[in-house]
Amino acid sequence: MILIGNALEELKKIDSNSVDCIITSPPYYYSRNYGSECEILWDGDKRCKHIWDKYNFCTKCGGWYGQLGLEPDVDLYVKHLADIFDQCMRVLKNTGNVFLNIGDTYANSLRRNLSFHNSSLISDSHTDRKNGGPIPIYRFKKHKHWVKPKQLLLVPYRLAIQMQSRGWIIRDMIVWSKKVYDVKQKRQIGSGMPESAMDRLSKSYEVVIHAVKSERYYFKKPKTNPLHIKSKNSKNLTNKNNHTNHNTNQEKVSISKLIEASPINSKYIKSESISLSASYAARRILKFRNPDNSFIELYEEAVNNVNGFLKRKLKQSGLSLRELSLITGISKGTLCHFFRTDLTGAAIPSWEAWEIIKPVLDLPEYEEIVKDEYKKAVLVISPLAYVGNVWFVNPERINVAHFSIMPQRLVEALLEMGCPEEGVVLDPFLGSGTVALVAERIGRKWIGIEITEKYVQITEERLKAQRENLMLNNKNSQ
Ligand SMILES: C[S@@+](CC[C@H](N)C(=O)[O-])C[C@H]1O[C@@H](n2cnc3c(N)ncnc32)[C@H](O)[C@@H]1O
Repeated sequence: MILIGNALEELKKIDSNSVDCIITSPPYYYSRNYGSECEILWDGDKRCKHIWDKYNFCTKCGGWYGQLGLEPDVDLYVKHLADIFDQCMRVLKNTGNVFLNIGDTYANSLRRNLSFHNSSLISDSHTDRKNGGPIPIYRFKKHKHWVKPKQLLLVPYRLAIQMQSRGWIIRDMIVWSKKVYDVKQKRQIGSGMPESAMDRLSKSYEVVIHAVKSERYYFKKPKTNPLHIKSKNSKNLTNKNNHTNHNTNQEKVSISKLIEASPINSKYIKSESISLSASYAARRILKFRNPDNSFIELYEEAVNNVNGFLKRKLKQSGLSLRELSLITGISKGTLCHFFRTDLTGAAIPSWEAWEIIKPVLDLPEYEEIVKDEYKKAVLVISPLAYVGNVWFVNPERINVAHFSIMPQRLVEALLEMGCPEEGVVLDPFLGSGTVALVAERIGRKWIGIEITEKYVQITEERLKAQRENLMLNNKNSQ
Protein backbone atom coordinates (compact mmCIF):
# COMPACT_ATOMS: atom_id res chain seq x y z
CA MET A 1 0.00 0.00 0.00
CA ILE A 2 1.35 3.45 -0.92
CA LEU A 3 0.15 6.58 0.88
CA ILE A 4 0.86 9.71 -1.14
CA GLY A 5 1.68 12.84 0.85
CA ASN A 6 3.79 14.30 3.64
CA ALA A 7 5.13 11.53 5.91
CA LEU A 8 4.16 13.46 9.06
CA GLU A 9 0.49 13.63 8.02
CA GLU A 10 0.21 10.26 6.28
CA LEU A 11 1.67 8.40 9.27
CA LYS A 12 -1.36 9.56 11.28
CA LYS A 13 -3.52 7.31 9.05
CA ILE A 14 -1.66 4.17 10.18
CA ASP A 15 -2.90 2.23 13.24
CA SER A 16 -0.87 2.33 16.45
CA ASN A 17 1.34 -0.72 17.17
CA SER A 18 0.72 -2.19 13.72
CA VAL A 19 4.16 -2.17 12.08
CA ASP A 20 7.00 -4.64 12.77
CA CYS A 21 9.86 -2.75 11.21
CA ILE A 22 10.70 0.63 9.67
CA ILE A 23 13.44 0.84 7.06
CA THR A 24 13.95 4.21 5.48
CA SER A 25 16.24 6.83 4.08
CA PRO A 26 14.94 10.41 4.33
CA PRO A 27 16.27 13.33 2.25
CA TYR A 28 19.73 14.08 3.67
CA TYR A 29 20.53 17.55 4.94
CA TYR A 30 21.42 20.01 2.18
CA SER A 31 22.01 17.23 -0.27
CA ARG A 32 19.53 17.84 -3.08
CA ASN A 33 16.38 19.59 -4.17
CA TYR A 34 13.62 17.02 -4.66
CA GLY A 35 11.28 19.49 -6.41
CA SER A 36 8.33 21.65 -5.50
CA GLU A 37 6.02 18.72 -4.67
CA CYS A 38 8.04 18.30 -1.46
CA GLU A 39 7.47 21.91 -0.36
CA ILE A 40 5.09 22.16 2.57
CA LEU A 41 4.33 24.25 5.64
CA TRP A 42 6.02 22.97 8.80
CA ASP A 43 4.88 23.82 12.34
CA GLY A 44 2.78 26.82 11.24
CA ASP A 45 -0.92 27.62 11.18
CA LYS A 46 -2.50 26.67 7.84
CA ARG A 47 -5.18 29.38 8.23
CA CYS A 48 -2.63 32.16 8.82
CA LYS A 49 -2.24 34.86 6.16
CA HIS A 50 1.50 34.35 6.14
CA ILE A 51 4.13 37.03 5.82
CA TRP A 52 7.41 35.38 4.82
CA ASP A 53 10.91 36.48 5.77
CA LYS A 54 13.95 35.80 3.61
CA TYR A 55 14.43 32.34 5.14
CA ASN A 56 10.80 31.34 4.42
CA PHE A 57 9.65 31.67 8.03
CA CYS A 58 6.22 33.22 8.55
CA THR A 59 6.65 36.25 10.79
CA LYS A 60 3.08 35.79 12.07
CA CYS A 61 2.59 32.08 12.87
CA GLY A 62 6.27 31.03 13.01
CA GLY A 63 5.81 28.25 10.42
CA TRP A 64 8.51 27.43 7.88
CA TYR A 65 7.76 26.68 4.25
CA GLY A 66 10.01 24.40 2.24
CA GLN A 67 11.38 20.90 1.70
CA LEU A 68 12.51 18.50 4.38
CA GLY A 69 16.30 18.59 4.13
CA LEU A 70 16.60 22.22 3.02
CA GLU A 71 15.86 23.94 6.34
CA PRO A 72 17.94 27.07 7.05
CA ASP A 73 19.14 25.51 10.30
CA VAL A 74 20.35 21.94 10.87
CA ASP A 75 18.52 21.76 14.21
CA LEU A 76 15.23 22.52 12.47
CA TYR A 77 15.88 19.64 10.04
CA VAL A 78 16.61 17.33 12.98
CA LYS A 79 13.41 18.51 14.70
CA HIS A 80 11.29 17.83 11.61
CA LEU A 81 12.72 14.32 11.28
CA ALA A 82 12.35 13.66 15.02
CA ASP A 83 8.67 14.77 14.81
CA ILE A 84 8.15 12.26 12.00
CA PHE A 85 9.84 9.58 14.10
CA ASP A 86 7.52 10.37 17.04
CA GLN A 87 4.72 9.18 14.76
CA CYS A 88 6.85 6.20 13.73
CA MET A 89 7.14 5.27 17.41
CA ARG A 90 3.35 5.24 17.70
CA VAL A 91 2.81 2.95 14.70
CA LEU A 92 5.69 0.61 15.57
CA LYS A 93 4.98 -2.49 17.67
CA ASN A 94 6.81 -2.73 21.01
CA THR A 95 8.94 -5.51 19.53
CA GLY A 96 9.73 -3.46 16.41
CA ASN A 97 12.95 -2.12 14.91
CA VAL A 98 13.85 1.08 13.08
CA PHE A 99 16.72 1.17 10.58
CA LEU A 100 17.25 4.76 9.48
CA ASN A 101 19.86 5.37 6.82
CA ILE A 102 21.17 8.93 6.85
CA GLY A 103 24.24 10.63 5.41
CA ASP A 104 26.27 13.48 6.88
CA THR A 105 26.91 16.97 5.51
CA TYR A 106 29.88 19.34 5.47
CA ALA A 107 29.26 23.02 6.17
CA ASN A 108 30.68 23.82 2.72
CA SER A 109 27.62 22.21 1.11
CA LEU A 110 25.49 24.92 2.70
CA ARG A 111 26.98 27.43 0.28
CA ARG A 112 25.61 25.44 -2.65
CA ASN A 113 22.65 26.98 -4.38
CA LEU A 114 19.89 24.43 -4.08
CA SER A 115 17.13 26.95 -4.72
CA PHE A 116 16.73 26.16 -8.39
CA HIS A 117 14.68 23.12 -9.19
CA ASN A 118 17.34 20.94 -10.67
CA SER A 119 15.37 17.77 -11.14
CA SER A 120 14.71 16.98 -14.78
CA LEU A 121 12.03 14.59 -13.57
CA ILE A 122 9.74 17.22 -12.15
CA SER A 123 8.20 19.82 -14.40
CA ASP A 124 8.18 22.82 -12.14
CA SER A 125 6.22 25.87 -13.11
CA HIS A 126 7.31 27.80 -9.98
CA THR A 127 3.79 29.10 -9.69
CA ASP A 128 1.70 26.37 -8.14
CA ARG A 129 2.53 26.65 -4.45
CA LYS A 130 0.49 24.78 -1.83
CA ASN A 131 -0.63 26.58 1.34
CA GLY A 132 0.03 29.94 -0.30
CA GLY A 133 3.75 29.39 0.23
CA PRO A 134 6.47 31.49 -1.36
CA ILE A 135 8.90 30.25 -3.99
CA PRO A 136 11.52 29.20 -1.48
CA ILE A 137 15.04 30.52 -1.70
CA TYR A 138 17.02 28.02 0.32
CA ARG A 139 19.56 29.81 2.49
CA PHE A 140 21.44 28.52 5.47
CA LYS A 141 21.16 30.79 8.51
CA LYS A 142 24.65 31.65 9.67
CA HIS A 143 23.86 32.35 13.30
CA LYS A 144 25.42 29.18 14.72
CA HIS A 145 28.94 29.86 15.99
CA TRP A 146 30.04 26.26 15.55
CA VAL A 147 29.06 26.03 11.88
CA LYS A 148 32.52 27.01 10.70
CA PRO A 149 33.67 26.50 7.11
CA LYS A 150 34.66 22.87 6.47
CA GLN A 151 32.84 21.68 9.61
CA LEU A 152 31.27 18.19 9.48
CA LEU A 153 27.78 18.76 10.87
CA LEU A 154 27.44 15.27 12.47
CA VAL A 155 23.82 15.11 11.35
CA PRO A 156 23.19 11.38 12.05
CA TYR A 157 24.45 11.81 15.62
CA ARG A 158 22.37 14.97 16.22
CA LEU A 159 19.31 13.06 15.07
CA ALA A 160 20.16 9.99 17.18
CA ILE A 161 20.59 12.17 20.29
CA GLN A 162 17.29 13.94 19.60
CA MET A 163 15.57 10.56 19.16
CA GLN A 164 17.06 9.37 22.47
CA SER A 165 15.59 12.38 24.24
CA ARG A 166 12.20 11.52 22.72
CA GLY A 167 12.18 8.00 24.12
CA TRP A 168 13.96 5.85 21.53
CA ILE A 169 16.62 3.36 22.56
CA ILE A 170 19.51 3.74 20.12
CA ARG A 171 20.96 0.25 19.76
CA ASP A 172 23.55 0.87 17.11
CA MET A 173 24.97 3.19 14.51
CA ILE A 174 25.62 0.62 11.78
CA VAL A 175 28.24 1.72 9.28
CA TRP A 176 27.30 1.15 5.64
CA SER A 177 30.69 1.32 3.99
CA LYS A 178 30.94 1.77 0.24
CA LYS A 179 34.72 1.80 0.08
CA VAL A 180 37.31 0.23 2.37
CA TYR A 181 40.97 1.25 2.51
CA ASP A 182 43.41 -1.52 3.33
CA VAL A 183 46.16 0.39 5.14
CA LYS A 184 48.70 -2.46 4.89
CA GLN A 185 48.25 -3.12 1.18
CA LYS A 186 47.57 0.58 0.42
CA ARG A 187 44.65 -0.60 -1.68
CA GLN A 188 41.02 0.38 -1.87
CA ILE A 189 38.08 -1.98 -2.23
CA GLY A 190 34.76 -0.70 -3.52
CA SER A 191 33.59 2.44 -5.23
CA GLY A 192 32.26 5.83 -4.21
CA MET A 193 31.68 9.33 -5.47
CA PRO A 194 34.93 11.15 -6.26
CA GLU A 195 35.47 14.27 -4.15
CA SER A 196 37.60 17.32 -4.79
CA ALA A 197 38.64 18.02 -1.17
CA MET A 198 42.41 17.50 -0.83
CA ASP A 199 42.68 18.10 2.92
CA ARG A 200 40.47 15.28 4.21
CA LEU A 201 39.58 11.71 3.31
CA SER A 202 36.69 11.15 0.95
CA LYS A 203 33.33 10.18 2.44
CA SER A 204 32.91 6.45 1.99
CA TYR A 205 30.32 5.47 4.56
CA GLU A 206 26.84 6.34 5.72
CA VAL A 207 25.18 5.53 8.99
CA VAL A 208 22.15 3.32 9.60
CA ILE A 209 20.65 4.22 12.99
CA HIS A 210 19.20 1.13 14.66
CA ALA A 211 16.53 2.30 17.13
CA VAL A 212 13.98 0.37 19.17
CA LYS A 213 11.03 1.16 21.46
CA SER A 214 11.67 -1.35 24.22
CA GLU A 215 14.40 -3.59 25.59
CA ARG A 216 12.89 -6.73 24.10
CA TYR A 217 12.54 -6.69 20.35
CA TYR A 218 12.62 -9.04 17.38
CA PHE A 219 16.16 -9.63 16.14
CA LYS A 220 17.56 -12.31 13.85
CA LYS A 221 20.91 -12.58 12.23
CA PRO A 222 20.57 -11.70 8.53
CA LYS A 223 20.44 -14.49 5.97
CA THR A 224 22.01 -12.39 3.24
CA ASN A 225 25.65 -11.76 3.68
CA PRO A 226 26.27 -8.02 3.60
CA LEU A 227 30.00 -8.67 3.25
CA HIS A 228 30.63 -9.64 -0.32
CA ILE A 229 34.30 -8.84 -0.62
CA LYS A 230 36.04 -11.49 -2.73
CA SER A 231 38.82 -12.32 -0.33
CA LYS A 232 40.75 -15.36 0.73
CA ASN A 233 38.48 -15.56 3.75
CA SER A 234 35.21 -15.53 1.87
CA LYS A 235 36.57 -18.29 -0.39
CA ASN A 236 37.27 -20.37 2.68
CA LEU A 237 33.81 -19.72 4.01
CA THR A 238 32.23 -20.81 0.73
CA ASN A 239 34.21 -24.04 0.74
CA LYS A 240 33.22 -24.64 4.31
CA ASN A 241 29.60 -24.07 3.40
CA ASN A 242 29.72 -26.56 0.52
CA HIS A 243 31.12 -29.03 2.93
CA THR A 244 28.32 -28.34 5.42
CA ASN A 245 25.71 -28.74 2.70
CA HIS A 246 27.22 -32.03 1.70
CA ASN A 247 26.95 -33.27 5.26
CA THR A 248 23.45 -31.89 5.59
CA ASN A 249 22.32 -34.06 2.69
CA GLN A 250 23.28 -37.11 4.69
CA GLU A 251 20.75 -36.18 7.40
CA LYS A 252 17.39 -37.84 7.81
CA VAL A 253 14.66 -36.13 5.76
CA SER A 254 12.85 -34.77 8.80
CA ILE A 255 15.99 -33.08 10.05
CA SER A 256 16.82 -31.50 6.68
CA LYS A 257 13.25 -30.19 6.47
CA LEU A 258 13.64 -28.61 9.87
CA ILE A 259 16.94 -27.09 8.78
CA GLU A 260 15.33 -25.63 5.69
CA ALA A 261 12.57 -24.10 7.77
CA SER A 262 15.04 -22.79 10.31
CA PRO A 263 14.76 -19.01 10.78
CA ILE A 264 18.49 -18.45 10.58
CA ASN A 265 19.65 -21.12 8.21
CA SER A 266 22.72 -19.15 7.26
CA LYS A 267 26.06 -20.50 6.15
CA TYR A 268 27.78 -17.79 8.16
CA ILE A 269 26.25 -18.55 11.50
CA LYS A 270 27.39 -22.12 11.03
CA SER A 271 30.91 -20.98 10.36
CA GLU A 272 31.11 -19.22 13.70
CA SER A 273 32.04 -20.81 16.93
CA ILE A 274 33.05 -19.50 20.28
CA SER A 275 35.63 -20.93 22.53
CA LEU A 276 34.80 -20.49 26.15
CA SER A 277 37.89 -21.69 27.88
CA ALA A 278 37.52 -23.47 31.16
CA SER A 279 40.18 -21.25 32.68
CA TYR A 280 38.14 -18.17 31.77
CA ALA A 281 35.10 -19.51 33.62
CA ALA A 282 37.26 -20.60 36.55
CA ARG A 283 38.80 -17.15 36.82
CA ARG A 284 35.33 -15.69 36.72
CA ILE A 285 34.26 -17.80 39.66
CA LEU A 286 37.30 -16.76 41.68
CA LYS A 287 36.80 -13.12 40.84
CA PHE A 288 33.25 -13.05 42.09
CA ARG A 289 33.64 -15.47 44.95
CA ASN A 290 32.28 -13.97 48.14
CA PRO A 291 33.80 -14.84 51.54
CA ASP A 292 30.53 -16.50 52.55
CA ASN A 293 30.42 -18.59 49.34
CA SER A 294 27.08 -17.02 48.37
CA PHE A 295 28.25 -16.44 44.82
CA ILE A 296 29.18 -20.09 44.34
CA GLU A 297 25.78 -21.08 45.69
CA LEU A 298 24.08 -18.81 43.18
CA TYR A 299 26.30 -20.21 40.43
CA GLU A 300 25.37 -23.76 41.38
CA GLU A 301 21.68 -22.93 41.58
CA ALA A 302 21.76 -21.21 38.17
CA VAL A 303 23.60 -24.04 36.46
CA ASN A 304 21.33 -26.61 38.04
CA ASN A 305 18.10 -24.82 37.19
CA VAL A 306 18.98 -23.57 33.71
CA ASN A 307 21.58 -25.92 32.27
CA GLY A 308 20.22 -28.98 34.09
CA PHE A 309 16.76 -28.19 32.76
CA LEU A 310 18.05 -27.68 29.19
CA LYS A 311 19.99 -30.95 29.39
CA ARG A 312 16.79 -32.83 30.31
CA LYS A 313 14.85 -31.13 27.49
CA LEU A 314 17.53 -32.03 24.96
CA LYS A 315 17.41 -35.65 26.10
CA GLN A 316 13.60 -35.71 25.84
CA SER A 317 13.77 -34.32 22.28
CA GLY A 318 15.99 -37.20 21.16
CA LEU A 319 18.14 -34.76 19.17
CA SER A 320 21.90 -34.78 19.20
CA LEU A 321 23.81 -31.55 19.73
CA ARG A 322 24.85 -31.67 16.09
CA GLU A 323 21.25 -31.99 14.93
CA LEU A 324 20.18 -29.12 17.17
CA SER A 325 22.99 -27.05 15.70
CA LEU A 326 21.87 -27.81 12.14
CA ILE A 327 18.26 -26.96 12.93
CA THR A 328 18.90 -23.73 14.82
CA GLY A 329 21.94 -22.50 12.93
CA ILE A 330 23.75 -21.93 16.25
CA SER A 331 27.21 -23.48 16.16
CA LYS A 332 27.79 -26.67 18.13
CA GLY A 333 30.67 -24.91 19.90
CA THR A 334 28.26 -22.33 21.30
CA LEU A 335 25.37 -24.71 21.98
CA CYS A 336 27.37 -27.21 24.03
CA HIS A 337 27.84 -24.66 26.84
CA PHE A 338 24.07 -24.42 27.36
CA PHE A 339 23.87 -28.12 28.23
CA ARG A 340 26.97 -28.40 30.42
CA THR A 341 26.39 -28.66 34.14
CA ASP A 342 30.01 -28.40 35.28
CA LEU A 343 30.88 -25.05 36.79
CA THR A 344 33.75 -24.32 34.44
CA GLY A 345 32.06 -24.97 31.12
CA ALA A 346 28.46 -23.90 31.70
CA ALA A 347 27.00 -20.80 30.11
CA ILE A 348 23.39 -19.76 29.81
CA PRO A 349 21.73 -18.75 26.55
CA SER A 350 20.84 -15.13 25.90
CA TRP A 351 17.16 -14.33 25.33
CA GLU A 352 17.79 -14.31 21.56
CA ALA A 353 19.41 -17.76 21.65
CA TRP A 354 16.57 -19.06 23.86
CA GLU A 355 13.98 -17.80 21.35
CA ILE A 356 15.72 -19.75 18.58
CA ILE A 357 15.96 -22.98 20.58
CA LYS A 358 12.51 -22.63 22.22
CA PRO A 359 10.31 -24.15 19.48
CA VAL A 360 12.75 -26.99 18.82
CA LEU A 361 13.07 -28.17 22.44
CA ASP A 362 9.57 -27.03 23.46
CA LEU A 363 10.89 -24.66 26.12
CA PRO A 364 8.82 -22.36 28.34
CA GLU A 365 9.34 -18.57 28.32
CA TYR A 366 12.90 -17.38 29.06
CA GLU A 367 11.99 -15.49 32.25
CA GLU A 368 10.37 -18.59 33.76
CA ILE A 369 13.72 -20.38 33.88
CA VAL A 370 16.47 -17.76 33.63
CA LYS A 371 16.20 -15.46 36.64
CA ASP A 372 17.87 -12.07 36.33
CA GLU A 373 20.27 -12.80 39.21
CA TYR A 374 21.55 -15.94 37.42
CA LYS A 375 22.99 -13.68 34.73
CA LYS A 376 25.32 -12.19 37.34
CA ALA A 377 26.74 -15.60 38.11
CA VAL A 378 26.92 -17.47 34.81
CA LEU A 379 28.23 -16.26 31.49
CA VAL A 380 25.42 -15.40 29.05
CA ILE A 381 26.16 -16.21 25.41
CA SER A 382 24.39 -14.75 22.43
CA PRO A 383 24.91 -16.50 19.09
CA LEU A 384 24.47 -13.13 17.40
CA ALA A 385 27.32 -11.40 19.13
CA TYR A 386 29.80 -12.07 16.36
CA VAL A 387 28.15 -10.20 13.50
CA GLY A 388 29.96 -6.91 13.13
CA ASN A 389 28.29 -3.55 12.63
CA VAL A 390 30.41 -2.38 9.71
CA TRP A 391 28.85 -3.57 6.47
CA PHE A 392 30.41 -3.28 3.06
CA VAL A 393 27.70 -2.88 0.42
CA ASN A 394 28.33 -1.55 -3.07
CA PRO A 395 26.01 1.29 -4.05
CA GLU A 396 23.43 0.21 -6.62
CA ARG A 397 22.82 1.95 -9.90
CA ILE A 398 19.53 1.34 -11.66
CA ASN A 399 17.91 2.82 -14.73
CA VAL A 400 15.22 4.84 -13.04
CA ALA A 401 15.04 8.58 -12.63
CA HIS A 402 15.55 8.66 -8.88
CA PHE A 403 18.69 9.59 -7.05
CA SER A 404 19.64 8.18 -3.65
CA ILE A 405 18.55 4.60 -4.07
CA MET A 406 19.22 2.18 -1.22
CA PRO A 407 20.94 -1.01 -2.40
CA GLN A 408 18.56 -3.98 -2.35
CA ARG A 409 21.24 -6.08 -0.67
CA LEU A 410 21.38 -3.70 2.30
CA VAL A 411 17.58 -3.53 2.63
CA GLU A 412 17.34 -7.33 2.45
CA ALA A 413 19.87 -7.83 5.24
CA LEU A 414 18.10 -5.29 7.47
CA LEU A 415 14.67 -6.79 6.75
CA GLU A 416 15.76 -10.30 7.59
CA MET A 417 17.40 -9.06 10.76
CA GLY A 418 14.55 -6.88 12.02
CA CYS A 419 11.24 -8.01 10.50
CA PRO A 420 9.62 -11.41 11.07
CA GLU A 421 8.36 -13.38 8.07
CA GLU A 422 4.89 -12.15 7.05
CA GLY A 423 5.55 -9.07 9.23
CA VAL A 424 4.87 -5.50 8.07
CA VAL A 425 7.65 -3.12 7.07
CA LEU A 426 7.08 0.62 6.63
CA ASP A 427 9.12 3.10 4.60
CA PRO A 428 7.92 6.69 5.25
CA PHE A 429 10.23 7.98 2.46
CA LEU A 430 9.61 5.32 -0.16
CA GLY A 431 11.34 7.07 -3.10
CA SER A 432 11.65 4.59 -5.94
CA GLY A 433 10.29 1.76 -3.79
CA THR A 434 13.36 -0.32 -2.92
CA VAL A 435 11.95 -1.37 0.47
CA ALA A 436 8.62 -2.42 -1.11
CA LEU A 437 10.43 -4.36 -3.82
CA VAL A 438 12.61 -6.34 -1.43
CA ALA A 439 9.74 -6.88 1.05
CA GLU A 440 7.55 -8.41 -1.66
CA ARG A 441 10.37 -10.61 -2.89
CA ILE A 442 11.24 -12.07 0.51
CA GLY A 443 7.75 -12.42 1.99
CA ARG A 444 7.06 -9.33 4.09
CA LYS A 445 4.04 -7.04 3.86
CA TRP A 446 4.82 -3.37 3.27
CA ILE A 447 3.47 0.18 3.57
CA GLY A 448 5.17 3.09 1.82
CA ILE A 449 4.74 6.86 2.04
CA GLU A 450 6.00 9.18 -0.69
CA ILE A 451 5.23 12.82 -1.36
CA THR A 452 6.24 12.93 -5.05
CA GLU A 453 3.76 11.27 -7.41
CA LYS A 454 6.40 10.65 -10.10
CA TYR A 455 8.35 8.49 -7.67
CA VAL A 456 5.19 6.58 -6.78
CA GLN A 457 4.87 5.77 -10.49
CA ILE A 458 8.48 4.56 -10.56
CA THR A 459 7.77 2.28 -7.58
CA GLU A 460 4.71 0.86 -9.31
CA GLU A 461 6.69 0.21 -12.49
CA ARG A 462 9.51 -1.51 -10.58
CA LEU A 463 7.01 -3.67 -8.67
CA LYS A 464 5.21 -4.61 -11.90
CA ALA A 465 8.49 -5.61 -13.56
CA GLN A 466 9.50 -7.71 -10.55
CA ARG A 467 6.11 -9.47 -10.41
CA GLU A 468 6.28 -10.26 -14.16
CA ASN A 469 9.81 -11.58 -13.74
CA LEU A 470 8.77 -13.77 -10.83
CA MET A 471 5.83 -15.17 -12.81
CA LEU A 472 8.10 -15.89 -15.77
CA ASN A 473 10.64 -17.63 -13.56
CA ASN A 474 7.90 -19.69 -11.90
CA LYS A 475 6.54 -20.71 -15.32
CA ASN A 476 10.01 -21.68 -16.54
CA SER A 477 10.71 -23.75 -13.46
CA GLN A 478 7.45 -25.75 -13.79
C1 LIG B 1 16.50 9.54 -0.08
S1 LIG B 1 15.03 9.40 -0.97
C2 LIG B 1 14.47 7.76 -0.62
C3 LIG B 1 15.04 6.75 -1.57
C4 LIG B 1 14.55 5.34 -1.35
N1 LIG B 1 15.11 4.76 -0.15
C5 LIG B 1 14.90 4.46 -2.54
O1 LIG B 1 15.61 3.47 -2.42
O2 LIG B 1 14.45 4.79 -3.64
C6 LIG B 1 13.93 10.40 -0.05
C7 LIG B 1 12.51 10.47 -0.60
O3 LIG B 1 11.71 11.19 0.33
C8 LIG B 1 10.71 11.90 -0.40
N2 LIG B 1 10.21 12.98 0.49
C9 LIG B 1 10.74 14.21 0.69
N3 LIG B 1 10.02 14.89 1.61
C10 LIG B 1 9.02 14.07 2.02
C11 LIG B 1 7.96 14.18 2.96
N4 LIG B 1 7.78 15.28 3.68
N5 LIG B 1 7.13 13.12 3.12
C12 LIG B 1 7.29 11.98 2.39
N6 LIG B 1 8.27 11.82 1.47
C13 LIG B 1 9.13 12.84 1.29
C14 LIG B 1 11.44 12.37 -1.64
O4 LIG B 1 10.53 12.62 -2.70
C15 LIG B 1 12.38 11.19 -1.93
O5 LIG B 1 11.81 10.32 -2.88
